[in-house]
Amino acid sequence: MCGIVGYVGSRSVSEFLLEGLHRLEYRGYDSAGIAVISDGEISVRKKAGRVMELARLVEEQPLFGNIGIGHTRWATHGETTDANSHPHLGGNGEVVIVHNGVIENHDSLRNQLIALGYVFHSQTDTEVAAHLMAHHLSEQLKLNSDEPCVDTCLRAVNLTLDRLKGTYGICVMFRDCPDTIIAARSGSPLVIGVGKNEYFLASDSSPLIGCTQDVVYLADNEVVVLNATGMKIAHRTTGRVQPSIQTLDQVSADIDLGNYPHYMLKEIFEQPTSVENAMRGRLDEGEATAVIGGLNLTAQQLRTFDRVVLTACGTSWHAGLVGEYLLEEFARLPTEVEYASELRYRNPPISDRTLVFSITQSGETADTLAAMRECQRKGHPTLSICNVVGSTIAREADGGIYLHAGPEIGVASTKAFTSQVTVLSLLALYLGRMRHLSYPAGKRIIKQLREMPEKIEEALKCHERVQEISEKYAHFNNFLYLGRLYNFPVALEGALKLKEISYIHAEGYPAAEMKHGPIALVDEQTPSVFIVPKGGIQPKVISNMEEVKARRGPVIALACEGDKEVERIADDVIIVPDVEEYLQPLVCAIPLQLLSYHIALLRGCNVDRPRNLAKSVTVE
Ligand code: G6P
Repeated sequence: MCGIVGYVGSRSVSEFLLEGLHRLEYRGYDSAGIAVISDGEISVRKKAGRVMELARLVEEQPLFGNIGIGHTRWATHGETTDANSHPHLGGNGEVVIVHNGVIENHDSLRNQLIALGYVFHSQTDTEVAAHLMAHHLSEQLKLNSDEPCVDTCLRAVNLTLDRLKGTYGICVMFRDCPDTIIAARSGSPLVIGVGKNEYFLASDSSPLIGCTQDVVYLADNEVVVLNATGMKIAHRTTGRVQPSIQTLDQVSADIDLGNYPHYMLKEIFEQPTSVENAMRGRLDEGEATAVIGGLNLTAQQLRTFDRVVLTACGTSWHAGLVGEYLLEEFARLPTEVEYASELRYRNPPISDRTLVFSITQSGETADTLAAMRECQRKGHPTLSICNVVGSTIAREADGGIYLHAGPEIGVASTKAFTSQVTVLSLLALYLGRMRHLSYPAGKRIIKQLREMPEKIEEALKCHERVQEISEKYAHFNNFLYLGRLYNFPVALEGALKLKEISYIHAEGYPAAEMKHGPIALVDEQTPSVFIVPKGGIQPKVISNMEEVKARRGPVIALACEGDKEVERIADDVIIVPDVEEYLQPLVCAIPLQLLSYHIALLRGCNVDRPRNLAKSVTVE
């Protein structure tokens, strides 16, 4: 949550900061601000609202300089006002900081600082850190007036960080050390872009694309001192760190909108390719299995596991539910799917024979990271299924599988879901083939997986039909999403998509479970979306549809072409391609993503930046 950028070099800093914030806006868009040092003064421009509004302010009141920091906020402490926007000045303007994370002991620190005479202008926890920084700076200046200013500033930063409890990715500039940025992380990500006589800082690599390909990922408890001619990274307790420079392989085209009006729509339409990329080089026809290289466990070791725990949040958790069904069906491995926010504080019986996977698009979700660390702390190898290369979870996991879906910018996750399901199918095939799954069964699964990009392409043909249906249903305020077996997680995901971007109340349920409660909601004003493609228990789901119709509930059905019975009962049918049951989530998710997209548009919602949400939730 919250996006941070920083720059020191010879470019005009405001342009980089604003463009960088624009690219990080998916992390939070309650307010934005930048601070620039020039002529020995720190100047700040900040504003509640989107980065666009900040850009307007900067146009009216420009900031010139070659060193600066910026922030786009997802509010935790304090409302979304100009005053609560970052950057925050400390002391009498001698320090300025931007911060991502939560300072848990802000209240007691604030009281101590007020007693020392510091005056607060915001309700944020960040301003506490800014004043504390100013306080330690003034103390250190008294004690060490002869040493280089940068050393004093670094000490002030370290002393401040020693007193903070919670999480931070933090960037600081000092008025009296005007060529330096100091940044540090503990729990919130920061990546440094290394240029020629210039350095960039950001919460993730997207602002760096087009600026530099060389990056260093700051690790927890590391602090970096940057100026135009160099960078020094130190671990706060163990000392100097030799930076490992990695190469970014993203290209700017991935983060351009192209001809699409929204990232969400672009990403929905990218799914034939993203699913193909998730499988690329990972199918072994000869052995009828998947090739999964990065698990860092031998086949022999993998065979010793007798249970799987999948942990995740949000949409990734829904993908995990599909994974549970796949792993149990293909590999006969008992699988549990845990909300990471629960797992991290529970004490579940995870034994040496339990394989734990964290599923995450961003690789930065605070709860997922904490759950993974908790499992690792107890000595269990924890693997990840992750999209963002070099993200904290990808780096800290003991092994893992990348999605290769490319950057997902729309806050509502779409292509990451189908890529996660694809990777989980590969995993289930791989683990299944080293257990009881037969060669012909493996061959059949591979054949069907290979067809999926084409099938998703076919599923996308429903676009116009979904648009029509959206017009008919956009005014309803409650929806039920119902499906069974592999389509139960799809129902949950469809409901989540609608909630997230249209602010319509929606509930996903196993279709048969509906009669134990949600059926009480059914009336003419509550449409039900049934996911009812062909399959073993389709007749049962059809009976559930009848139950809804009998209570005058409008029914939208996702069904295969020519399904007369569904056509007879449903008010509106959306056609999905006929695929094996275990691959149905990959095609059935598509119309539901489009349905929520169009309903949100019709209701005038901002689909790429839904209210109160953020793409990457780096706070608890
Ligand atoms: C946020 C996003 C969701 C996402 C969830 C988990 O809530 O808005 O779209 O599913 O975080 O994110 P992750 O990056 O761990 O998959």
